[in-house]
Amino acid sequence: MAEKLRLDKLLSNMGHGTRSEIKRAVKQGKVTVNGLVVKDSGLIVDPIVQEVAFEGERVVYRNVIYLMLNKPQGVISATEDNKERTVIDLLEDHDKLLSPFPVGRLDKDTVGLLLLTNDGQLAHELLSPRKHVDKTYEALVWGDVGEADQQAFTAGVELDDSYLTMPADLIILDKIEEPIGICSLIRITIREGKFHQVKRMFDAVGKKVLTLKRIAMGPLSLDESLSEGSYRELTDEEVELLRAHRGIER
Ligand code: URA
Repeated sequence: MAEKLRLDKLLSNMGHGTRSEIKRAVKQGKVTVNGLVVKDSGLIVDPIVQEVAFEGERVVYRNVIYLMLNKPQGVISATEDNKERTVIDLLEDHDKLLSPFPVGRLDKDTVGLLLLTNDGQLAHELLSPRKHVDKTYEALVWGDVGEADQQAFTAGVELDDSYLTMPADLIILDKIEEPIGICSLIRITIREGKFHQVKRMFDAVGKKVLTLKRIAMGPLSLDESLSEGSYRELTDEEVELLRAHRGIER
C-alpha cells in the first residue's frame, strides 16, 4: 500500500541518521528524489512511486519488520522495563527503528522462538484466543511422564484457577536419570496461551517443568542455527506462511 511521508521521516526510519543529521545531509545535497537534488527535508514523498536516493544509493522503503529471535533466559518479553533487560535490548539499533514488539510472551526463564514485529494486524491474528494457533515447546520435566499424562493432556487438565485446558498433544522423547530423580524430555503442542500454561499443566499432573523452549508457533519453526540471544529477519516465504496461516487479506 502506498504511503506518503516526510523525507526526513523516511530516511530516519531507514537508518540514515537522526532528523537533524538528515536535515544537514539534505542541505548538503546528498539526497535526490527521482534523480533531482532536493533541499527540503520536510518534502512529502511517496517512496513506492518516487525514487529516493541517499548519497547516490537507492533507499529501499519498508514500513514493516519481522524478526525471529531465539530468546535466551533472563530477558523479559516486553518492549521496555525499568529494571529488567527486555528482548528489545537484544536488537541492533537499526532494527529498533521500526519499533518491533514481541508477539506474545515467553516467561523470563523460557528460551526459544519469539516473533518480533510491528505488524499489529498479524500479531493480533496470531494471538487471538479465537484462532488457537499451535505453539510447540520442548521441556525437561521432573518426573516420569507417561501415558496417563498424555491422556490427561488430550482430555484437558484443570489448572490451579479451575480453567480446563483445550486438548494438547504430548510426546515423550526421552527419559533421563538425574540426581533429583527421573526426568522426562517431552514435546507439547498447546493451542491457547494462558499465563505459564505449560508449567501449570505439568503442575496439574504433579510434575515440574525444569526447562522450557518454544520450537514452533503456527507454521513458523525456530531456526536452530540461531544461538540463544541471536535473531534474524524472517524470509519472505516465512512471512507469507504466517499470513496465509491466518488468512489475512492484504
Ligand atoms: N508456558 C509456560 O509455562 N511458559 C512459557 O513461557 C510459555 C508457555
